[in-house]
Amino acid sequence: MVLERVLSGMRPTGRLHLGNYLGALDNWVQLQDDYQCFYFVADWHAFTTDIPAKGEIQQNTLEMVADWLGAGLDPERSTLFVQSLLPEHAELHLLFSMITPVSWLERVPTYKEMVEQLGIESPSYGLLGYPLLQSADILMYQPRWVPVGVDQAPHVELAREVARRFNHLFGSVFVEPKVKLTAIPRVPGTDGRKMSKSYGNAIYLADAPDVTVPRVQTMVTDPARQRRTDPGNPDVCPVFDLHRIFTPEPEQADLAQGCRTAGIGCLDCKGALLTHLMPRLETIRARRAGFAEAPDQIRQVLHDGSARARATARHTLAAAKAAMGIV
Ligand code: TRP
Ligand code: SF4
Repeated sequence: MVLERVLSGMRPTGRLHLGNYLGALDNWVQLQDDYQCFYFVADWHAFTTDIPAKGEIQQNTLEMVADWLGAGLDPERSTLFVQSLLPEHAELHLLFSMITPVSWLERVPTYKEMVEQLGIESPSYGLLGYPLLQSADILMYQPRWVPVGVDQAPHVELAREVARRFNHLFGSVFVEPKVKLTAIPRVPGTDGRKMSKSYGNAIYLADAPDVTVPRVQTMVTDPARQRRTDPGNPDVCPVFDLHRIFTPEPEQADLAQGCRTAGIGCLDCKGALLTHLMPRLETIRARRAGFAEAPDQIRQVLHDGSARARATARHTLAAAKAAMGIV
């Protein structure tokens, strides 16, 4: 049976937290059962918004890929690779740049957002081209599906437009991939805001239980529930958002009831959460630790995966160049 192909990538941001896991990585792991998966580290893309310090990209790549492997990405089944090990991506990006109107890139919503949010005075050519490089990353592997969060959907849309234009100008080479939207649950951090590295409220996959347990125990709850005897409201409590993700339904209902009637205290409630959360995290952390101690093994995985990816990349690039009449 020929499996449909899936491709996705992440920028090398370093250690991943529970929000990253539930918003993308866990889904990547699941997809391995039904698809032929290509997953890669988008390290060139890391330069589009700032200039990382020397060594930072390598370090962040190793940390992130340790999390990938810890979470269950399987290099036997999935092709795990690094963008910068495949200069073919740069070449395809250049070819695409010849047929892509600047106006298409200027109207990609993430471009304006990045420029405004980060207060970038003089946006680089690379930042404007970010989604076109992403289009090359995608189209290179002719995937049927691109699993991403909704924020990345316009980039997949651009890839489709570029494929269409290329095929129209030079003959049919590229298939139009489809976005596979990842349902992203609300993952609150320890302070109740969205979990984010920059808020300092994150629970990391790499953290040992003696770090994570106290962080959960001191997590904010329904602010109206000041005393043990005050009834609470699970619908406004970040701890309960995590129960909705990790705790089986019947127990969830009991806890909600206990909260509303002050039958249970917040520490009891958090204790119940920990019984479901910790085993899940522990599986990942233990497997991750094995890889983190052996960075050469991670490098080997990425080199092997990149060599495998190269076979497909060369093939696609050759077809694109032949269609364009470049030999
Ligand atoms: N832009 C994506 C992000 O920030 C990362 C990325 C780069 C990507 N190239 C890709 C994702 C190709 C999917 C497919 O998350
Ligand atoms: Fe939140 Fe649970 Fe406390 Fe209710 S009992 S406020 S759901 S932590």
